[in-house]
Parts: sequence; C-alpha cells; structure tokens
Amino acid sequence: MKIGLDDVVAAETVLSDVDGLAGRLIIRGLSLDEAAGLYTFEDMLTVLWDGLVAVDGNLLGALAAARIDVYQHWVADLPRYARMPVFDAMRAIMACLPDTKDDGSALALAAAPAVLLPALLRLSQGASPIAPRTGLSHAADMLRMLTGTDPAPVQVAALDTYLVTVCDHGLNASTFAARVVASTGAGLVSAALAALGALKGPLHGGAPGPVLDMLDTIGEARNAGRILAAMLDDGVRLPGFGHRIYRVRDPRADALAKAIARLSEAGHVDPDRMALARAVETEALAALHRRKPDRVLETNVEFYTALLLDALGFPREAFTAVFAAGRIGGWIAHAEEQTRSGRLIRPRSVYVGPLPREAA
Ligand code: ACO
Repeated sequence: MKIGLDDVVAAETVLSDVDGLAGRLIIRGLSLDEAAGLYTFEDMLTVLWDGLVAVDGNLLGALAAARIDVYQHWVADLPRYARMPVFDAMRAIMACLPDTKDDGSALALAAAPAVLLPALLRLSQGASPIAPRTGLSHAADMLRMLTGTDPAPVQVAALDTYLVTVCDHGLNASTFAARVVASTGAGLVSAALAALGALKGPLHGGAPGPVLDMLDTIGEARNAGRILAAMLDDGVRLPGFGHRIYRVRDPRADALAKAIARLSEAGHVDPDRMALARAVETEALAALHRRKPDRVLETNVEFYTALLLDALGFPREAFTAVFAAGRIGGWIAHAEEQTRSGRLIRPRSVYVGPLPREAA
C-alpha cells in the first residue's frame, strides 16, 4: 500500500520525466539545461503543446492576442476582485473562462495569469492596470504590465528562464489534479482550476513566499544558525528545502541560480539579499544534514524562485501565481494528453473504519 502514492505509476506521458536520483528533468526530449536560459516561454510551449494544442499562426502572436482578449473582457470587473488575495482573485476569474472545445481555452488559460496578476497587483496598490501590447513576448509583456516600464532584456530573459524552468515537472500534485479532472471529460478550464487549488498549498507551490519571510526573520548571516535551529526545533519544515522525488539537488534550483547570477551581474539584484541567501542556504543544508543524516534534503526550486521573483519586482504574495503562469503550460498539455487517453483515473482507498455489526 502506497500512502501518498509514492512510486505509483498513474499515467503514461510524453511530456516530462523527473529522474530524482540523477537530478535530471526532461521536457519532451529536452534536458532542462538545454532549454532554461535559451528557450523563451513561447518556444517551450511550442515544444510542450506539439500535437496536443493546435495554434493558428505563430504562438507569440496568438498568445499576445489572447492576453488582449482576457484584458478587454475583464478590465472593468477587476476592481471587484482586487481586495482578495491575488492568487484567489486570479483563480476566481480563471474559473469564468469559457470551456470551449477548440484551442481558445488553452490560449486564454495560458494568457490569463500573465494579464490578471499584474493588473490585480496594481489595482491593490491603487494604480491603474496596464493593457497588454501586441508584438511583445509573454515574459516582456508581463513585466511591463507589472512595473509600467519596458523591462531590460536581462530581466525578460530571467522571467523566461523561470517560466520555462517550472512549466512542467512530471506527475506533481497539481498536474495530477489536472489529469484527474481531465480524465472525467470536464474540460481544460476545470482541469486547470483543480491544478490551481493544488498548487496553492505550502508543500507544493506555496513555499517561495515563506522563503523570503525566513530570510527577513534571519536578517543577518550571523543569525542564520541560531534561527534555523530554533525553526527545526519547533518542527518547522524549512521552506525551499527537500523534495519528494529528488534525492540530489533539484536541477531547477541550478537553472534559476544561473539566471539570478546574470541579473546580479547586470545590477538587478540587491547584493546584501544575495549574500544573506547564500549564507542561509549553506547553514540550512548543514543543519538539515545534521538532523536527518539518512535523508537527502537539498535546496529545491522554491528557494531560488523567491530570490528571482523578488529581484524582478513581484511581491511575495504573488509568487505562487507567477508559478501558475509557467506551470499552466504543463497543466494544459497533461490535461489534453489525459483526455486523449480516454481513461478515467479512479484509484481505490483501503477502508479502515468500523464495520457494520453483521460483518464484524
Ligand atoms: N525542513 C525540515 N525537515 C524536512 C524538510 C524541510 N524542508 N523536508 C523534509 N523534512 C523532514 C520531514 O519532516 C521528515 O522528517 P521525519 O521523518 O522525522 O518525519 C523527513 O525529512 C522526510 O520528509 P518527507 O515527509 O518524506 O518528505 P516529503 O517527500 O514528503 O516532502 C516536501 C517533500 C513536502 C517538499 C518537504 O520537503 C517540505 O515540506 N519542504 C518544505 C516546503 C517546500 O519547500 N515546498 C516546495 C517543494 S518544491 C515544489 O513543490 C515546487
């Protein structure tokens, strides 16, 4: 019996493979090293959606058109949602996207987080939302809509690296949720909503905000050992460390560390924050190794996600929503793949409750 479904195979996929022992992620035949830093988000979606989502014309243009559609449809209603936590507001609006049987739903779902997140954040700060612009890449437009200024190429490249790095990752909890719902024939929007719900939790996509909270609490490198030890004594799981599958360092952490190094060289990262993060990472790994010598607890993707998204100007309460902006590409591909398989996902549970009197 596998509580938590560890090692249980629930699907066959051509989309991605996570080798937790080798620390390797393959997305449709590409290693993460081949894609992260070199592929744009549109390049990656073209690869990921091949044969699953048909897009008329080029994806850059189709995605820009979908961003404009989402914006025009929702801009008047957005103020009503802007007082909610940004992830919940985004999820509520995405629930209203039409579940068409053509590829319109895929494009609208992929476009929505990049449009809604900056607009909702701006409204919550009393600023006006900024409309998307054709001719820009998804990453460039998202940053422009967030900050109101044209981002530097190195910032666009960093966000592309992030979106590509997180776009798919085997049968993680949110992707599994998407496949379960897709297997019922409920459609892409319902599948994406299930995935959004799963992503929100702190054991999955909700960890990067707490990483920054942890860095703030530690404040200075000399406090790291003491505060991390106190957290571990209190039974806190250090955010940004550990993984269900990886038994070595998460390769996505390295991809993001390289992107941050490039941002840092270009002067877009606070050097004190970087120095503190490095010191905390070193201390945390040492403390985890001392406490759990038999369990490999390494840095996961969320640690460097926090630093990267912070440096790009996203507030911490929006980090999980930015994660969704990347992972939506994978959810859509998995939902389409599952739907094509035609197989309802329906596992069993083991009943451990009381028996009726006659059966006892
Ligand atoms: N800090 C402290 N202890 C930890 C951590 C951590 N980050 N991660 C695991 N452990 C401990 C567990 O408490 C457990 O101890 P126990 O045996 O005494 O109970 C032991 O290591 C083994 O942990 P598991 O529960 O087997 O680890 P699991 O594979 O279930 O959990 C998870 C993986 C949820 C990611 C966990 O490492 C964790 O909670 N990390 C912190 C939150 C985080 O960073 N989440 C983002 C993950 S990446 C992603 O989803 C995109």
